Amino acid sequence: MNNIKDQENLSEKKVLLRLDLNVPLNKGFITDETRIDKIVPVVEFLIKKKSKIIIISHVGRPKGEINKIFSLRPICENLEKRFKKKIRLLTDNIFQLKKENLFKSSQDQIVFLENIRFYKEEEKNDGSFAKHLASFADLYVNDAFSCSHRLHASVCKITEFLPSYAGLQLETEINALKKVTTEIKKPITCIIGGSKILTKIGIIKNLIPKFNNIIIVGGMANNIINYKGHNIGKSIKEFNCEPAIKEIFKTSENHSCEIILPEDVLVGKNINDNSKVKELGDIDNDELILDIGPKTIQKIKNVIKISNTVLWNGPAGYFENPNFANGSHEIAKAIVEKNKKDSIYSVIGGGDTISLINQLNIIQSFNFVSTAGGAFLEYLEGKELPGIKALNQNV
Ligand code: 3PG
Repeated sequence: MNNIKDQENLSEKKVLLRLDLNVPLNKGFITDETRIDKIVPVVEFLIKKKSKIIIISHVGRPKGEINKIFSLRPICENLEKRFKKKIRLLTDNIFQLKKENLFKSSQDQIVFLENIRFYKEEEKNDGSFAKHLASFADLYVNDAFSCSHRLHASVCKITEFLPSYAGLQLETEINALKKVTTEIKKPITCIIGGSKILTKIGIIKNLIPKFNNIIIVGGMANNIINYKGHNIGKSIKEFNCEPAIKEIFKTSENHSCEIILPEDVLVGKNINDNSKVKELGDIDNDELILDIGPKTIQKIKNVIKISNTVLWNGPAGYFENPNFANGSHEIAKAIVEKNKKDSIYSVIGGGDTISLINQLNIIQSFNFVSTAGGAFLEYLEGKELPGIKALNQNV
């Protein structure tokens, strides 16, 4: 894999820069800027080299349709302030855009394509779409480790049409995770939560042989609680997960990995409600599971106490409402406490996990913070991520 930082002669070169600016937005306001902080070095590097930068990103999951809620405008405005430069958001249909019209004047140095997932071709890894994107630039840079597990056109297919390079952050993330996975000390505990159930549930089975404890919380746990015969009311769940869950339990029988699940939960009638502690058998049809309960917190703390390594992706509850943030906060505090005594190596990953850690202002208290969630877990699985494979093939 070639890195852009080793390239000479980038002056006036048009660079298609894939970033992951999938930051949390609330009514158009960015609620956590960590992912933006992390891409500042690559943009500054290209500015210094006098390249012309065409930024590509996605935010959310607009499913191939234009939807203003998922506009990158607030993020574009944030970048303008950071880099003190006019950055034009290109909202025209991508198929109408031409290389020679992207930069209006010689002063323009950065343009920003509107959400790439407004085009269904992106998630299909479509060849002609990638070829069209490639026609805008002279070279391609992937500095989006956190979406390099996606077989998408602006991550993978694009590398077939342009000389392609890794970005600065992508290399940092890979090097750090390589170190984590080679120098890891047992007992290893992996905490998996969050709401992207489909992305993660299939991964767990492959993590079982590598780890001593897997703690499943958040939306991730709902499907399993339901599978075990408990009512989960209106809680989020995914359909057709039963085969993956069966595999998890079957695989765990053959390995000394303990699967830890919630024993009690906090529920509400909607996400803005107050919290109520419930045992698993007592959840009503009109309730949603929104956090783990006190017994579960204690159980998780006990596991953290005996671990030498903790890897954590995905919150334990709907932490955006403080009534349901306690489970995630308690997990974070338990890890930080052990870290203070230097008796644990801790890695956290994922946009939501980072924003929850930022709520507590303790981001510096973890050994490594990855911007990636799904990509982080797939990397731990030992897989070569499609976006990384694409870069490796383009040398
Ligand atoms: C992430 O937040 O993990 C990445 O931006 C990928 O998002 P996705 O799960 O919607 O593909």
